[in-house]
Amino acid sequence: MLQARQLTKHFTDKKRGTVRAVDGVDLECKAGEIFGLLGLNGAGKTTTLRLLATILRADSGSVMIDGVDAQVHPEKVRSKIGFLTGSTGLYLRLTPREILAYFGQLAGLDNATIARRSDDLIARLGMKEFADSRVDKLSSGQKQRTSIARTLIHDPPLLILDEPTIGLDVVTSRAIVEFIREARTRGKCVLLSTHIMHEAAKLCDRIAILHAGRVRRVGTLADFRTQYGHDDLDDIFVAAIEGNGGMAQ
Ligand SMILES: Nc1ncnc2c1ncn2[C@@H]1O[C@H](COP(=O)(O)OP(=O)(O)OP(=O)(O)O)[C@@H](O)[C@H]1O
Ligand SMILES: [Mg+2]
Repeated sequence: MLQARQLTKHFTDKKRGTVRAVDGVDLECKAGEIFGLLGLNGAGKTTTLRLLATILRADSGSVMIDGVDAQVHPEKVRSKIGFLTGSTGLYLRLTPREILAYFGQLAGLDNATIARRSDDLIARLGMKEFADSRVDKLSSGQKQRTSIARTLIHDPPLLILDEPTIGLDVVTSRAIVEFIREARTRGKCVLLSTHIMHEAAKLCDRIAILHAGRVRRVGTLADFRTQYGHDDLDDIFVAAIEGNGGMAQ
């Protein structure tokens, strides 16, 4: 579903000079797979996901989505992507249901499809009690559920989710995690970023450890446990970013 090759994005910052935010990243993610990008603050997760979602232009490298070169035909691949990021905008004066209708119309859906999909997302994301309240009256967890629903209204095969459970309470996080699992069952390709180790360990089929814009390691948790001799993903992660243990890349 998604392949990135040697993806690179450097920023020029007056104070810091050149920031190698993404520095030659290779990634592959299949339909029916949950793939996690794990990294410290500033590791390059959001930048990588923005490049993959064609929100940002890469300096070099390529992204193929469902067999289409995403940089050559961004308009062709956008309908296949649901992208959630911290800055996903919500209109404060609208209700979640109105937001879903608005983004459904932007995606070219007819009213019957919008109504059916909205009802389905509202039910599956546990949004019934606040679906008709204005967004400016909602809690941050309720807003996050609304953002996720808005990301998915066009039923894309590829979900790119930047820290989908950030700032959520344990019950809301679990609901989102359950929702992501369900998406996998329905054959979606899910690429997500997180720095919550236990969540990545529970949820992801494969994990890429990203550090300073580079992929240090890709594998399943079982692979990592064998390579590093640690059980905990925390310990594996620290060893991977410090370059200790494991087999040579
Ligand atoms: N528009 C920009 N201009 C300059 N530097 C940027 C820009 N966007 C990101 N960066 C820099 O690129 C690096 C990677 O940032 P990015 O947001 O991708 O990290 P992240 O892994 O998502 O971190 P976090 O866990 O804090 O969300 C950081 O050093 C950041 O300061
Ligand atoms: Mg980020």
